[in-house]
Amino acid sequence: MKISLMSIHCLILAVFLQLALGYGSNVSYDSRSFIIDGQKKLLISAAIHYPRSVPAMWPGLVHLAKEGGANVIESYVFWNGHELSPDNYYFEGRYDLVKFVKIVQQAGMYMMLRIGPFVAAEWNYGGAPVWLHYIPGTVFRTDNEQWKHYMKKFTTYIVDLMKKEKLFASQGGPIIMAQVENEYGYYEQSYGDGGKRYALWAAKMALSQNTGVPWIMCQQWDTPDPVINTCNGFYCDDFTPLSSKSPKMWTENWPGWFKTFGSMDPHRPVEDVAYAVARFFQKGGSVNNYYMYHGGTNFGRTAGGPFITTSYDYDAPIDEYGLPRLPKWGHLKELHGALKLCENALINGERSNVSLGPQQEANVFTDSSGVCAAFLANMDNKTDTNVKFRGMTYHLPAWSVSILPDCKNVVYNTAKVGSQASVIAMTPEDLRPSAVSPGKKSKPLQWEVFVEKPGIWAKPELNKIGFVDHINTTKDTTDYLWVTTSLNVGSNGIFLKNGSIPVLSVKSKGHAVHVFVNQKLQGSASGNGTVFPFKAEFPISLKAGKNEIALLSMTVGLQIGLQGEQLNIFKGDGLKSKNWVSTSVPLQLKPLTWYKVLVDPPSGNEPVGLDMIHMGKGLAWLNGEEIGRYWPRKSSKHDACVDHCNYRGKFSPNKCSTGCGEPTQRWYHVPRSWFKPSGNVLVIFEEIGGDPTKIKFSTRKAVGVCSHLSEDHPSISVDSWTTALKDTTNNKPTAQLSCPTNTRISAIKFASFGNPSGACGSFSQGDCHDPNSASVVKKICLSRSECSIELSEENFDLSSCSGTTRRLAVEAVCS
Ligand SMILES: *[C@@H]1O[C@H](CO)[C@@H](O)[C@H](O)[C@H]1NC(C)=O
Ligand SMILES: *[C@@H]1O[C@H](CO)[C@@H](O)[C@H](O)[C@H]1NC(C)=O
Ligand SMILES: *[C@@H]1O[C@H](CO)[C@@H](O)[C@H](O)[C@H]1NC(C)=O
Ligand SMILES: *[C@@H]1O[C@H](CO)[C@@H](O)[C@H](O)[C@H]1NC(C)=O
Ligand SMILES: *[C@@H]1O[C@H](CO)[C@@H](O)[C@H](O)[C@H]1NC(C)=O
Ligand SMILES: *[C@@H]1O[C@H](CO)[C@@H](O)[C@H](O)[C@H]1NC(C)=O
Repeated sequence: MKISLMSIHCLILAVFLQLALGYGSNVSYDSRSFIIDGQKKLLISAAIHYPRSVPAMWPGLVHLAKEGGANVIESYVFWNGHELSPDNYYFEGRYDLVKFVKIVQQAGMYMMLRIGPFVAAEWNYGGAPVWLHYIPGTVFRTDNEQWKHYMKKFTTYIVDLMKKEKLFASQGGPIIMAQVENEYGYYEQSYGDGGKRYALWAAKMALSQNTGVPWIMCQQWDTPDPVINTCNGFYCDDFTPLSSKSPKMWTENWPGWFKTFGSMDPHRPVEDVAYAVARFFQKGGSVNNYYMYHGGTNFGRTAGGPFITTSYDYDAPIDEYGLPRLPKWGHLKELHGALKLCENALINGERSNVSLGPQQEANVFTDSSGVCAAFLANMDNKTDTNVKFRGMTYHLPAWSVSILPDCKNVVYNTAKVGSQASVIAMTPEDLRPSAVSPGKKSKPLQWEVFVEKPGIWAKPELNKIGFVDHINTTKDTTDYLWVTTSLNVGSNGIFLKNGSIPVLSVKSKGHAVHVFVNQKLQGSASGNGTVFPFKAEFPISLKAGKNEIALLSMTVGLQIGLQGEQLNIFKGDGLKSKNWVSTSVPLQLKPLTWYKVLVDPPSGNEPVGLDMIHMGKGLAWLNGEEIGRYWPRKSSKHDACVDHCNYRGKFSPNKCSTGCGEPTQRWYHVPRSWFKPSGNVLVIFEEIGGDPTKIKFSTRKAVGVCSHLSEDHPSISVDSWTTALKDTTNNKPTAQLSCPTNTRISAIKFASFGNPSGACGSFSQGDCHDPNSASVVKKICLSRSECSIELSEENFDLSSCSGTTRRLAVEAVCS
């Protein structure tokens, strides 16, 4: 007896010492899951790309991911943000990778580091440095000595940096796995034998780094053991890893999609995201990474292309501004809770499948200790159905999975959303002039402007007959390239004949172009983000003699760049450049114009968006920080938007889009941490012409919350699982409402128990309605920061419209 007590003490001491001395973890895997220090793990991972937000946001984002049920944070590493020129490294500010990984560690989470270093990611040049392209003899991503040299050098640099900071799990850090290359399987064949050799080389190069943690390659169909090949897609339940020793991993589960300027706003319904995730675990998966969990912002010129918007919101569970997107965040949080209840069975149990109908199946996970968890799926994309499982009947909505952590009680169904939704508002606020000194009354807004001269503004970079390749010429140091020529028109020439209108025809394989003749803007044209060249014709007027034709070619991204860029007039000493001219009424509708104005931050502390709906196209900065490209380009009215999204059936990016006929992006995120208490310098470069007096800041917040709960919602919630199991009869589905911090429910805008229709923000009463709904909800919820409303007979008239499944819809105002 004494001896065993002693040994327990020793064990505790040993464990304690191990933690205290920061000894590493042993990370391995088997065919079912990752194994960390001998413990098999279910990994729920959240992609948050560090340069797509700011360090001040990182702890909050990581915390919100953890609260949402994730235990891993994933990020790519952005090579061209770190190696600015050969051997010239940058790890400050938004690129402080070490700081980011340490924040993940402090939150007690693991890290998946996808080094690449080619990463795609809708990031400029896919993360590859443009300078490397111009080192003679370099061919990207194949068996090319130059490319392999630089790629290995950077990969080693990152690995060594992580090792130096003891960030690999093998050293006591949070990084439990790393990725080399990215979705190369799609391209390998087109490189022939070189592609094949390169993929193998990349895997071996990675293994030779001796990180002590496993390596993965995604969408790669010839990875050698022990490198794990993984799946990316909207669904990965059908995926099987190449090696029978590898676990089934989903590195990119796309809960939404990215946007391009001029296109619609894609949404992926959460019922379908949850369905895909549940199916993945039902089919033996154990690692799921949401790409993205927080998409964030493509600040400056970091958006890849072409035409990717500055917003990289991605319809992700955390929105671009850092607020939880509800009900998506909440419904997935509950899913993660339900999976966690099944963890033991999922990764240790035997899996067997049971057919429940032509398109219905169950997978049952059992082990010898009596653990049992079951997933019941209805893959039918139209019809709800009842299935029989172990002597009980279960209702399964179309395209849904029910989770039964004890093979008997349902805690979660992917199509039944119990989480609250929220009403998000962008509240506009005029730009506030910065008080020159505290206490002094501020003057009206003081603007300064500087107008670029269209065309070559200094000695031309080069003279050439014919055209040049845009990127070849700019090396991507700017979005802009001036191309000019001149045309002599004789006074009796055809161009000046009465009734004749000369037409300038421009054909380009680039992204966009503005056309100037004799310093006047004639028009603009742009492509549609595909490889197709675009062609545009501009009626112009010419004069006798020399006419200057100047094309401003753009990449959305021969003089390279603009004069203002050359002068750096948007930051540092450039802000004092004598090119700036003061005015109280800034020029309007004037192309090629720089604007500068001193402003105070918008009130409150909510996230801020810069409203650019009244501007044309250009770039914006605050205090020298790059907000990014703005372009309120509209999507076509004739695009295929939907009023109501049917979550059932396979998702594709255009399935559930909104915003037809509206600007793809109106607001541009300006992180709060970029603002000073006063004297903030906002600089805008406008290409086409806009009205700067109408620029506003908008603050973003949840001003209301909604619940839409059905009486057949699982009555045992994930949270109440252990207590509820003692007595499953008295549980009733319960609607939960919770206002953001420091706000309370101040009004009930809508409440109906019956068959209400619509969605949060637009509910309407149906023909079945309990007239006491509003008074009941008001009594329970008014003046509270949160409240729970049971769908019980104490609260509602359960005799009305019996025979149908009734629902409670509530919209509450938070203030
Ligand atoms: C790490 O764990 C694996 C599986 O649990 C085991 O096979 C291996 O021997 C361990 N390695 C070390 C160095 O402890
Ligand atoms: C059960 O799984 C096996 C292999 O995973 C498969 O071959 C079989 O078709 C499945 N049966 C049902 C009923 O889905
Ligand atoms: C880019 O420039 C190089 C030489 O500087 C030339 O060989 C190549 O053909 C150019 N590419 C294009 C697309 O113009
Ligand atoms: C063009 O026509 C107008 C009247 O139609 C005439 O006044 C003008 O002189 C003509 N100009 C030329 C260049 O022929
Ligand atoms: C883009 O434009 C080209 C050429 O006009 C056209 O063939 C193609 O269908 C367009 N693609 C999209 C996605 O609009
Ligand atoms: C629904 O399922 C049917 C049959 O499996 C299939 O043919 C159809 O394409 C599916 N529809 C959607 C929207 O997924």
